[in-house]
Amino acid sequence: MALDTTDINKSRVDLNELDEIWLFGYGSIIYKVDFPYLEKAQCYIKGWKRRFWQGSHDHRGTPEDPGRVLTLIETQDQTVCEGMALRVTPEEFEHLDHREKNGYLRYQVPLFFNSGNQESSKTGIVYIAPTDNAAYLGPASIEQIAAQIARCHGPSGPNKEYLLELANALRKLNIDDPHIFAIEQTLLSLQ
Ligand code: BEZ
Repeated sequence: MALDTTDINKSRVDLNELDEIWLFGYGSIIYKVDFPYLEKAQCYIKGWKRRFWQGSHDHRGTPEDPGRVLTLIETQDQTVCEGMALRVTPEEFEHLDHREKNGYLRYQVPLFFNSGNQESSKTGIVYIAPTDNAAYLGPASIEQIAAQIARCHGPSGPNKEYLLELANALRKLNIDDPHIFAIEQTLLSLQ
């Protein structure tokens, strides 16, 4: 099932209101940036966690056999989700809105940066696939998620490439994410 969110996104966050546009990457943007950017810095958001709960009918799977990709799930506490902030120009959003059209919506969130012992904050934009979107798959066991990722393949390549490249990139950045690493270990044990 797919819903094209391209048009909805154009009216969701007014990019002209922002002095600088910082995009928060928590998934493929961490390991592969296929668009120009002006600056890049590691950062984190609070109150969200990464989960392989979104269906991918157009990139890492097909309508008949959707893959699993990431979305962010809101938490009741200040759970930290670490990722990458990219400063971009407004022009990049045409490409991004198209690339993330399978259920992702733009949200405005505070991004936090650490420098020494000092925490600073900037406004950021992040693509999140909300739990009521048509392509949302929802929770499953680590074993079920790993098996689906191991099996699925779409126009952007094997679903497992997304998982394994992300896990490697997180390790290089010293980012711990038990959900991602548990799925990686389970998938590798299936091979
Ligand atoms: C990312 O942060 O890499 C990302 C994840 C889902 C949709 C768009 C971007």
